[in-house]
Amino acid sequence: MALKGLNLFTSSRSSLTCTYKCGNACLGECDNPSNNSYFGDRFTTPLSRRTALRAGGLSVVAVGGSAALAACSGDGAGPGDSEGNAGAGKTTDAKVELTSAEGMQFEAVEPNTKDEVVVPKGYEQSVLIAWGDPVIEGAPEFDVDKQSAEAAEKQFGFNNDFAGLIEHPDNPERLVYMCSHEYTTEPMMFPDYDPENPTEEQVKIGWAGHGHTILEVSKVGDTGELKREFGPLNRRITATTPFQLVGPAKGSDLVKTKADPKGETVSGTLNNCSGGVTPWNTMLSGEENFDQYFAAGDIKDEKAKKSLERFGIEDKETARKWERFDDRFDCSKEPNEPNRFGWIVEINPLDPTSTPVKHTALGRFKHEAGNIHIADDGTVVCYSGDDSRFEYIYKFISTKKYEEGNIEHNLSILDHGTLYVAVMEGNSPEDEIDGSGVLPEDGAFDGKGKWVKLLTSDTENNKFESHVDGFSAEEVAIFTREAADKVGATKMDRPEDIQVHPDSHKVYVALTNNSYRGATGENAKKNKEDAKEWAPVKENKNGMVMEIEDDHAGESFTWNLFLVCGDPNEANTYFGGFDKSKVSPISCPDNLAFDNHGNLWITTDGNALDSNDGLYAVTTSGDTRGELKCFLTVPAGAETCGPIVDDDRVMVNVQHPGEADDATFDAATSHWPDGGKSTPRPAVVVVWKDGKIGVN
Ligand code: FEO
Ligand code: CA
Ligand code: CA
Ligand code: CA
Repeated sequence: MALKGLNLFTSSRSSLTCTYKCGNACLGECDNPSNNSYFGDRFTTPLSRRTALRAGGLSVVAVGGSAALAACSGDGAGPGDSEGNAGAGKTTDAKVELTSAEGMQFEAVEPNTKDEVVVPKGYEQSVLIAWGDPVIEGAPEFDVDKQSAEAAEKQFGFNNDFAGLIEHPDNPERLVYMCSHEYTTEPMMFPDYDPENPTEEQVKIGWAGHGHTILEVSKVGDTGELKREFGPLNRRITATTPFQLVGPAKGSDLVKTKADPKGETVSGTLNNCSGGVTPWNTMLSGEENFDQYFAAGDIKDEKAKKSLERFGIEDKETARKWERFDDRFDCSKEPNEPNRFGWIVEINPLDPTSTPVKHTALGRFKHEAGNIHIADDGTVVCYSGDDSRFEYIYKFISTKKYEEGNIEHNLSILDHGTLYVAVMEGNSPEDEIDGSGVLPEDGAFDGKGKWVKLLTSDTENNKFESHVDGFSAEEVAIFTREAADKVGATKMDRPEDIQVHPDSHKVYVALTNNSYRGATGENAKKNKEDAKEWAPVKENKNGMVMEIEDDHAGESFTWNLFLVCGDPNEANTYFGGFDKSKVSPISCPDNLAFDNHGNLWITTDGNALDSNDGLYAVTTSGDTRGELKCFLTVPAGAETCGPIVDDDRVMVNVQHPGEADDATFDAATSHWPDGGKSTPRPAVVVVWKDGKIGVN
């Protein structure tokens, strides 16, 4: 098949994953062609120096829960100390023996390349549901040789990414599980798949494999295990389910098509990556790499044309060839159809007849997710990252206040408010940010930032205000990246999930990687910005986690890099100031979640350290801040997604197991989860133990 070649440039993602997950975004030119740099003059007050806060603190030797990690260096100092690198800062003359924080008390899983899910000793696991299992009563059991679109519309979709779990409204023995299905990998789904000539049935199975699943699950005794059930809330949403457009882009000429001349109703949702559960128990889901589904065509509108190019819609033919079976996937026939994707969608899992919506007030880009924080005064703040190299971090501040229990009111909150983009600057001299990842003299990659207004929406009164010169309100909503360029947004290293700590209310941002950052040699042309304090690693392969102290409903913040990921033996890594000899290696942070103890849990996507992806937990405060441990690893070729962590269980979505460069249906490189010679299936895993998760 016509794959575009090996993915040599980012993480360890396979070429198959590149083609079907992100439309080879990782191989192409970087998306952002703008030359905006940060505007130093936005910051009129002196910078606060968070001097030596991160690295010069406690002297610790973690014991107990850390026992399985790398053997203690004799003096308790990380490998960094002798090299004067990012691990430095621990003094060794006042050792304090510390045990891992509650929630972190498990034996770390070692890096491995096994074709299985590896969990800590003492933990049990089972598969809740896998691709093709029945969701709607009456759907057939999965039979890889007897697939049909009709069955697939009632079965669990492919490549589950985001996961959420909420109370069941009327059955205490049950919970409601929800997830997104990001994309399909046809060569691994169908026997004898011909990528040049997919059949109509295969294409329609692909449409059904996208979208979302809502599933009732039952608790198994007093274990943490869950079983799938049929129930009235069970639902499949696919690439053909009707969605309502809401907000500034609704009714715009830029979203009108032959099938929807009013520009109000979209058929389906695509490439739903991560998401969030709102405090009002709905699911937000980000339409991410939607560009790959659209064949390019001649576009008249100049802004629309530039936008499509920025998103990467350039080829006359797509990998899946959907344009052969529905004109809307062909921009030469329906130039506006791509403008109807790239939104945050909201689904009410507790109302199976509800029409899901696309909230255009939140802007259009490659949304990784949308995550809500409610400020003290009830203002709703929604954070969202644009997951591409050198793209931006956004937040939306509502004008309406959250009203507990008023679902109708809360469902309209994301249509009323202001969209902002982040502009940052560092506080260390630029010559100390040399691209090595070594900490600057003040001991921290840190600084401050401002949120800059883009668009204010009052959907109820049909009033929308652009804050960007040269852009109408609907244009800011639809061409958000270009609007953000104009206000000097800060280029980030692929912002993925963003989560607010339940207690400290600090905001954590996964920045997964950016191998073009400061790139030289053959990738020099793709380098849109050299190392900066917020992105201090040249050709960044392992990513970072940023910690933001945000004035949630306001316009200013401070930030620091909590983790600079990678092999802790390397100089260019940093683990919140914790002793690097006692942490797990971690690469390419992606999805984030908090446990009930305030520890941050991080999934990885594309581990560049020659081992499988996994789920990691890290302490965010106290004496063991920065202690990071691997809780589980997923099978070879898979990505770890959608973590859910509570006292009873850990759940992960195992996406694209066995997706290796040359993998096909007939040449599978994984047989997880069914074993033997079986076809690998994306699936949901539940992990539990006798007693609370992460507590001895
Ligand atoms: Fe679908 Fe940003 O990962
Ligand atoms: Ca600094
Ligand atoms: Ca992701
Ligand atoms: Ca991912």
